[in-house]
This record gives sequence, C-alpha cells and structure tokens, in this order.
Amino acid sequence: MDYIRLGQSGLKVSRIALGTMTYGDPAWRDWVLPEEQSRPFIARALELGITFFDTADMYSLGASEEVLGRALRDYARRDQVVIATKVFNRMGSGPNDAGLSRGHIMDAVQASLKRLGTDHIDLYQIHRFDPETPILETMTALHDLVRMGAVRYIGASSMLAYQFARMQHVADLHGLTRFVSMQNHYNLVYREEEREMLPLCREEGVGVIPWSPLARGFLAGNRQAGEARTTRAHSDRFAQALYHTEDDYAVQQRVAEVAARLDVTPAQVATAWLLHQPGVTAPIVGASKLPHLEDAVAALKVRLTPEDLRALEEPYRPHPVLGI
Ligand SMILES: NC(=O)c1ccc[n+]([C@@H]2O[C@H](COP(=O)([O-])OP(=O)(O)OC[C@H]3O[C@@H](n4cnc5c(N)ncnc54)[C@H](OP(=O)(O)O)[C@@H]3O)[C@@H](O)[C@H]2O)c1
Repeated sequence: MDYIRLGQSGLKVSRIALGTMTYGDPAWRDWVLPEEQSRPFIARALELGITFFDTADMYSLGASEEVLGRALRDYARRDQVVIATKVFNRMGSGPNDAGLSRGHIMDAVQASLKRLGTDHIDLYQIHRFDPETPILETMTALHDLVRMGAVRYIGASSMLAYQFARMQHVADLHGLTRFVSMQNHYNLVYREEEREMLPLCREEGVGVIPWSPLARGFLAGNRQAGEARTTRAHSDRFAQALYHTEDDYAVQQRVAEVAARLDVTPAQVATAWLLHQPGVTAPIVGASKLPHLEDAVAALKVRLTPEDLRALEEPYRPHPVLGI
C-alpha cells in the first residue's frame, strides 16, 4: 500500500480508501450487507494496508457508522486509521434535522461520534452545499468543531466549483479552518469535474477523493447491454439513473478491451485510470465481494501508457451535471 498526504494537509491516507455505504442495514437498500457479512471486508481492508475509511451519517440511517466503528475497535488501533464521515442529509423529520446550520452540525457530530464509538472524527465532510444556510455560519461551526477536538480536518463533497470556492474564500476572510479535501463524482463515465472542480482543487492544494470510482459497478460490468448481473445492478436505482447512455456503454466496452489487452480486470483498469489523474489522492472504492478489495489494491500496480489513457478516454462524451 502507498500512503499519501491528503492535499496540503499533514494527514497521511492510504491511496485506496474503502467506502462503507455497502455495509449496514439491508432494510435501507437491497444491496447493503448486514453487519456480520460486512465485518470481514473491514478486517481484510486493514490487512491489505487500507487505513482510510469513508462513511456518512445517512448510510443505512446510521448503521454504517455503527458497523464501521465496532469493526475498527475490534480490528485496529484508533491512531492507525483515518475515519471520514459526513453531515448534511436528513436524519429526522424535524426542520433542523438536515442541512449545514450550526444547530444541525453540532447535533450531527455528536450523533456520529456516538455511533462510531470514538472521541474524534479525522475528516468531517459536508455531504452537499446548503443554499439555506449562510456560508459563514457553516464555516464557523466546522471551525469550532476543530477547535473542540471533535474533528481534526474538514472536507467537502459534491457541489458546484464556484460554491466550493466561495466556502474556502469565506474561511480565508475570517481566519477559519479550510477544507482539505473534495469528495466528488469522478470516474471514466463521468468526467465533467475536469472542467472546473479538479483544476480548482489542484491549484488550491485540496486533496481529491472521488466517489463511485467504478460508477457503482457499471465500469466493472455489473450491468451489460442493459442486463443486470448482480444484486446491486438490479436494485441500485441511482446507478441506473446515472449511467445508461450508449456513450456510457461504449466507455464500459473500451475498459473491458484495455483490461483484456493488459491481462487485468476491468475494475483494476478503471481504478488505475483514476490513480493516474493529476491531483487525485485516493479513490473511495466500494466492495460487495471480498476479491473486490484485492482488485482495488492491485490497481496501484497497473501502469497505463499514454496510449492506454487515450484509448480509455476517447469514447467519452460530455454529460449533464450528475450526482450533485
Ligand atoms: N459523497 C457522495 O455523495 C458519495 C456518493 C456515492 C458514494 N460515496 C462513497 O463512495 C463509496 C464507494 O461508492 P460505490 O460503492 O458506488 O463505488 P464503486 O467502487 O464505483 O462501486 C462499487 C461496486 O462496484 C462493483 N465492484 C467493485 N469492485 C469490483 C471488482 N473488482 N470486480 C467487479 N465488480 C466490482 C461492485 O458491484 P456489485 O455489488 O454489483 O458486484 C461494488 O458494489 C461509498 O461507499 C461511499 O463511501 C459517496
């Protein structure tokens, strides 16, 4: 495993992060694994040198944080792992149970700490931009969490680049903590982030930790010619809405061709492509079968030539903004 600084911060993370949206409570989504089936993934990830784990309060409505927290307490030392979680999405029916108000951030962080069973979160991320809260209110609340020690670093997730730039600007103007990372939607079938967000992150020294690096399994071929081949491909409605055009299938086909030529799996090629993009710190991979973890780590060794990169990128056509 390789370890790398998260942007310009001093925090070192593994170059592969494990996303834990797949672990928690199958009542939330059909493709989610229950706790006893989830724990071996966290144990195996640690064995492979993965130290960077991403979750969110909303995944399985809190159960993902609980499953991750219990497994890490059993299998790892707290100071050897980096726990990232998120706030923003609705966690209750009240008017203040969602968003980035000072009140919800303060309540949500306490709930996440409790579910994770830890006294600090290494990377606390805002899951989306909140147009209904003043940026200064959000940035001040996040800064206070850092000062309190509840949170060590802050990060952001999918939003428009101008919104992210404004948030960083407000932090700078008021001497508040800046975001060290951007968790965005970036993979071979969604590359719109190359226009604005990625150059912004590179120039500002913000680490980039893309979500759904395999397009929720699409780039690994879990849906082919419209036919679903796995539980997730059958039941992941969001994936079906995001990735379905002829152009998307052309990219999927090209990934399979390059993988066959290099004698590796399509998943390795798609992950390796991301690892070759300037400014990308660590893709956040999902794994529903244990060998997926080996593949993710094997991607670190796949070297793509400029010709390979051109071949993989050539069938892509611009998309509308997706996943924000
Ligand atoms: N910030 C956000 O808004 C946001 C949004 C989405 C996700 N995330 C984060 O990103 C993490 C990863 O998301 P994701 O699960 O969508 O990522 P992904 O890596 O794009 O997709 C994971 C899926 O790909 C398939 N797969 C993985 N490795 C494979 C391999 N070696 N061979 C064949 N198939 C393979 C599996 O599909 P099958 O199960 O069909 O086999 C698996 O469920 C989440 O856990 C979460 O932490 C964040």
